[in-house]
Amino acid sequence: MLIVGAGFSRLVRGAAGETRAIDRLGVLPIVLSDGPAGVRIHPLRFGVGETFYATAFPNEIVLASTWNPELVERVGKAIGEEAKEYGVDVMLSPAINMHRVPLCGRIFEYFSEDPLLAGEMAAAYVRGVQSEGVGATLKHFVGNDQEAGRMVINVIASERALREVYLRPFEIAIKKGKPWAVMAAYNKLNGLYCTQNPWLLTEVLRKEWGFDGLVMTDWGAGDNPVEQVKAGTDLIMPGSDDIVKRLLDAYKQGLLSDDIINQRVKAVLNLVAKSLKARGYKPSGKPNLDDHAKIAYEAALEGMVLLKNEAALPIVEKARVALFGRGSYWTVKGGLGSGDTCPRYVVSIADGLKERNVFVDPEVEKIYVSTLHRFFEFGTSQQVFKQMREWALKNGDMNAVEFLLTQFVEWMMEWTRTINIQEDFFTDEFLDEVAQRNDVAIITISRVATEGFDRAPAQGDFYLRDDEHRLVARVSQAFHRYGKKVVVLLNVAGPIEVVSWMDKVDAILVIWLPGQEVGRATADILLGRASPSGKLPLTWPRNLFETPAMRAYPGEPKDNPVQVVYSEDIYIGYRYYDTFNVEPAYEFGYGISYTTFEYKGLTVEKSGEGLVIKFKVKNVGSRSGKEVAQVYVRALASKLTKPFQELKGFHKTKLLSPGEEELITITIPVENLASFNGRYWIVEKGQYEIRVGSSSRDIRLKTVIEIDNDMCFDVSWRQITC
Ligand code: BGC
Repeated sequence: MLIVGAGFSRLVRGAAGETRAIDRLGVLPIVLSDGPAGVRIHPLRFGVGETFYATAFPNEIVLASTWNPELVERVGKAIGEEAKEYGVDVMLSPAINMHRVPLCGRIFEYFSEDPLLAGEMAAAYVRGVQSEGVGATLKHFVGNDQEAGRMVINVIASERALREVYLRPFEIAIKKGKPWAVMAAYNKLNGLYCTQNPWLLTEVLRKEWGFDGLVMTDWGAGDNPVEQVKAGTDLIMPGSDDIVKRLLDAYKQGLLSDDIINQRVKAVLNLVAKSLKARGYKPSGKPNLDDHAKIAYEAALEGMVLLKNEAALPIVEKARVALFGRGSYWTVKGGLGSGDTCPRYVVSIADGLKERNVFVDPEVEKIYVSTLHRFFEFGTSQQVFKQMREWALKNGDMNAVEFLLTQFVEWMMEWTRTINIQEDFFTDEFLDEVAQRNDVAIITISRVATEGFDRAPAQGDFYLRDDEHRLVARVSQAFHRYGKKVVVLLNVAGPIEVVSWMDKVDAILVIWLPGQEVGRATADILLGRASPSGKLPLTWPRNLFETPAMRAYPGEPKDNPVQVVYSEDIYIGYRYYDTFNVEPAYEFGYGISYTTFEYKGLTVEKSGEGLVIKFKVKNVGSRSGKEVAQVYVRALASKLTKPFQELKGFHKTKLLSPGEEELITITIPVENLASFNGRYWIVEKGQYEIRVGSSSRDIRLKTVIEIDNDMCFDVSWRQITC
């Protein structure tokens, strides 16, 4: 039965799923593979000499931090090319849920707390993947914004919050990217599993938005396949014979009509027909991994966000560097779970610096490497792995079982990089000598995250461990004694607590989990071969518990949540911090550079297409750099309560040399100023402030425009009388 998947892929080892073939009708099985950071397949195949390594691109949170849709489209295209050449027909990406809680285990796989930024980035990603003839899948529709309780949790959210915040990025990406597929999420939405929710899958997605692609379930989502098919799910993944039987029984009992089944089968056949496989494409097994490495590097470089810099960066090319923190030597490339990848290599920060001929203190390195080595060996214990492999060989489907085992070993390796190895293993005397003989200290703080679990509000995860605190304090003290600077690199999946230690150090660079080229991109930013140009795609809180969603997190009951209420409603991220005057550590859209930019000449004109906003950005510093200009709109008086301001447009400049300027034009369709009043979208008449800035709190230019009449739109954006 076509509408039930065939399980893990047999055609492409390690791919997450496959559709069923119907030999007598010539219907081919197509291959579906994760994930957001690159094609997640097994790099080795039995009896085959070739390898199938895939590029580890930066995670989506990094892609969003570039604020550069053109670059993200190129990343998508490269992922599409790898999928194509490795025989993958549909990518299970991009993921597009919201950064609602900093603890979300998949925060690295999602773009932003802002629906416009997330939607535009996802659309660019989709366009890129699909330009290669490979399908993209928007996931997880909708409300899978935390991992705690994800298989069962009932998300309670108002229709306004859903339409303005949670559904909006999907809507934008569907309109502007035209993805072939959407994956319905594990969780429930207002009482019904998303995969069994007719309002979501049929009313909103298909009828209101006109989506004409395929809807699949997340892997093993929901509890009733019959309800899934009725509600609008076309393909149940990964699928099992038991589900086929349940559907056939339901059909025999008259619970599923021919019409419904035909609609679902048609959607699957359409997807199969669009696939490269059906069009006779023969994968070469040889994507251009070298070119893709360059794109991964570029995206990593543009996604790094400089939070603080007190004359510490860039460091001079001839500097002698003492590298602390295990992440300096075993840098975490990406998150785990289905967002993981198997690349050819990962360039650590130490290797990236050495490749650029930077002197890395060998004694500090030796201590880390020898300590880590012991843990590494423990984590990947060859003995244990061998036994598991033998067991797998005796017990059935090698492809699936061995892939899972290899993944498991990789997980252990990745976790080993971040588990609690105490790091302040240096004596005062040693640190003093290191500070004397080097010019700068760099401390890497690494964290990893995965689907299935949220990040812990605990030491070693959201908070530094005591030994990490001591390391930061003692290295800073030692280096500052000789007037030398200390730089912290945050090799993290999402925000961590910084306020308690940030004053001790001179610079903080967020490198996130930026893929296989992490070391090279980090080195080039540290050395000033490129100016940082990333900006935060989410608010970096001072205090975890000031995040509005933390009030109800993780839901009720706390130890095993089955319901979570989005009580902050539309006030997610900066919409909350700005409206309720709460000071974050670093605001949405923040990120500094090695150069400075001047904004000038703001004009706003109303045209048939909307508000045409023009201004100039000039590089008035002494280094080349790119700036991300952001346009926020604030309704000065409205009947409906609204956030203080909302992002309505953005633009990343080209690389501007010192003295160079760029004229920027951003057009905002008037309907994009609308809020949802419970029944329809409305742009109220009155004054709106157009706020142009370098971050959400660094507004450089403002002007006020007037909307003369109320304008109303239905849920499909047709203008209606108010
Ligand atoms: C994840 C999806 C993924 C699927 C297949 C699920 O656990 O939530 O994002 O695409 O597995 O690997």
